[in-house]
Amino acid sequence: MIDGYGRKINYLRLSITDRCNLRCQYCMPEEGVEKLKHSDILSLEEIDKMVESFVSLGIDKIRITGGEPLVRHGIVSLVEMIHKHPEIKDLALTTNGLLLKKMAKSLKDAGLDRVNISIDSLKPEKYFQMTRGGVLGNVLEGIEEAKRVGLTPIKLNVVIIGGFNDDEIEDFVRMTEDEAIDVRFIELMPIGEVAKWSIKNYVPNTAVLDKVPELVPVESKDPASPAKYYKLPNGKGKVGLISPISCKFCTNCNRIRLTSEGKLKYCLHSDIEFDLKKALEDQLDLTTYIQQSVLKKPLEHEIGKASTVARNMVQVGG
Ligand code: GTP
Ligand code: 5AD
Ligand code: SF4
Repeated sequence: MIDGYGRKINYLRLSITDRCNLRCQYCMPEEGVEKLKHSDILSLEEIDKMVESFVSLGIDKIRITGGEPLVRHGIVSLVEMIHKHPEIKDLALTTNGLLLKKMAKSLKDAGLDRVNISIDSLKPEKYFQMTRGGVLGNVLEGIEEAKRVGLTPIKLNVVIIGGFNDDEIEDFVRMTEDEAIDVRFIELMPIGEVAKWSIKNYVPNTAVLDKVPELVPVESKDPASPAKYYKLPNGKGKVGLISPISCKFCTNCNRIRLTSEGKLKYCLHSDIEFDLKKALEDQLDLTTYIQQSVLKKPLEHEIGKASTVARNMVQVGG
């Protein structure tokens, strides 16, 4: 599928729930966000039909997101359903890792290739504070289990938050020294109701290179990847910088998103959405509908220029 600017769109980020077992400060306000009604969420059958259309249009990489995707009932069956499409070359999931210890093996057996795990502090009290209640030990055990069952390569996502975890940058980088694990630092994006908080706490990713000058650039295998990769001179793993604010990667974007209530989003930073659930209910031709929506995908996001988007991160899945 090609968009209006000639970009090949082959990566679908599929959000399957707006629920989460954490309440990270950059993702939602303290009181949480209003939850969708069960009947508004796509059923597994609806997701199956939509995935079928996406695959027929050339989507060959699917990442399952949330909220927290592992809290959705039927997640293992869903992975099985998606895995049955031989066209899908990369089936991955982004998780906070809390439930991985219990679920990694069944997810792997169902056909999941790999996981990216969000972890913003290596200190239990700080992790608890940022996630408003998360237990770091559970995430660390989840990472070990994911490694053990082969949900690899594992990538850790660390959102840098000024005054909170920028003092841990070196500790995170050191994790890549002895292990084939990738650590990716993500610039805090102003999204949803907590946008102002994010702007206040933003730190550019150049802080990583300032703090660890021995990092050397690594040539990218995937031009569409939002991360620029580096490594320690003898490091087994890589260090990635995902810098949507200081260094836009939109010109190589290969992504579209589907929210858990079936809205197609052509950009994380746009409030324009196409109601795929309704299109399915109205028995429209889904492939034509998707193709026409994707044609309108903008060239780049407008963070800084336009007002920030209304949807909270927990409702889009990153
Ligand atoms: P890989 O396939 O392993 O490279 O994963 P990924 O980086 O595509 O997915 P992941 O869910 O781990 O996302 C990492 C971070 O990149 C999240 O904070 C996303 O919100 C951010 N990200 C991914 N795609 C985009 C995008 O199109 N625009 C912006 N601004 N950020 C994105
Ligand atoms: N800015 C940057 N990254 C964010 N994530 C969630 N909210 C934000 C934000 N405002 C990250 C999560 C997860 C990924 C999908 O997005 O930590 O790793
Ligand atoms: Fe949950 Fe992820 Fe949002 Fe944290 S960032 S509250 S783990 S959806």
